[in-house]
Amino acid sequence: MSLLIPADLLPADGRFGSGPSKVPAGRLEALAATGRTLMGTSHRQPPVKGLVRRVVDGLTTFYDLPEGYEVVIGNGGSAAFWDLATFALVEQRSQHAVFGEFGAKFAAAARKAPWLGAPTVRTAEPGSLVLPEAEADVDVYAWTHNETSTGVVAPVVRPAGAREDQLTLVDATSAAGGLALDVTQADVYYFAPQKSFASDGGLWLALMSPAAVARAERIAASDRYIPAFFDLVGALKNTRLDQTYNTPAVATLFLMAEQLDWMNALGGLPAMVERVDASAQALYDWAEKASYAAPFVADPAHRSPVVGTVELDPAIDKVALTRTLVANGIVDLDAYRGIGTNQLRIAMYPSIDAADVTALTRCIDWVVERL
Ligand SMILES: Cc1ncc(COP(=O)(O)O)c(C=O)c1O
Repeated sequence: MSLLIPADLLPADGRFGSGPSKVPAGRLEALAATGRTLMGTSHRQPPVKGLVRRVVDGLTTFYDLPEGYEVVIGNGGSAAFWDLATFALVEQRSQHAVFGEFGAKFAAAARKAPWLGAPTVRTAEPGSLVLPEAEADVDVYAWTHNETSTGVVAPVVRPAGAREDQLTLVDATSAAGGLALDVTQADVYYFAPQKSFASDGGLWLALMSPAAVARAERIAASDRYIPAFFDLVGALKNTRLDQTYNTPAVATLFLMAEQLDWMNALGGLPAMVERVDASAQALYDWAEKASYAAPFVADPAHRSPVVGTVELDPAIDKVALTRTLVANGIVDLDAYRGIGTNQLRIAMYPSIDAADVTALTRCIDWVVERL
């Protein structure tokens, strides 16, 4: 029989997965309330086109997008965007700062693209950070704002000495919505809806600078073969018309639009940053004090406020711990494959309340004491 955690210790919501992540209460009911007006209707007609527009406008407000920056939406999720970038954004050669599994995947995609020169790859051990560095003959610098695999956060700042014709491509899949951003530092800030935007997977979204749009247009006009699915200029043109190139996941767009409304009503990005910072403080304060746990990321400045990684003492049976938590409705605390030796990973996206993070730490203490 599993241990039964006292009800007064439990978080109000036990979903701490790093993605797909917690969808706030009431959202699925709001989707259901659309009845026959949205799901099952054409994506070329006003109800769904209006929804695409709500997402574009919501992001424009949330990021207070500078003149000339555009929101682009396409199908395939962030992983598809890496392949898209090799076709549609990297002109000849890219540089990648890799400090986790997701950054490594984009670097691998660039390495395998036979039409590109071999990328420069700067790497750091899991739990630490490496940044891009000015290099003469690259046309893209790529890095990850928040490495979901390790819980390391990186600054989004153009490398010192980088030229204006070199683009910065920032994977913000788990960062967007929760981490502060000076959007002018990124030419392409791309992400997906299943993390801070409390929605489902399958789409990619990108904030593109005028320089990035110009680059995409120049490559599209060249004789490079670009599969239609990776046609970024096509995606841009469709988004301008409140559409996507092929059929989007309508429910995903709806949930994201609802989350953007919630975020903007609460005060937008600064308010979300406050929320995730409160959660992170609760988590890392606990991990610093617990006799059997410690933050995995050694440098406090590199610890992510949205995805926390905590290394447990080898004497703690992590499988028994997480199994007990799952039996009590606290789910998805597993580390990313191969990261850490005895690790928990805890999402703290804006929808997750700091009080629930505190409750989670109390539940972990309670279970560890009894295992
Ligand atoms: C940082 C980062 N990049 C890319 C991805 C891939 O996103 P998707 O599953 O939408 O393709 C993820 C997914 O967890 C991620 O965390």
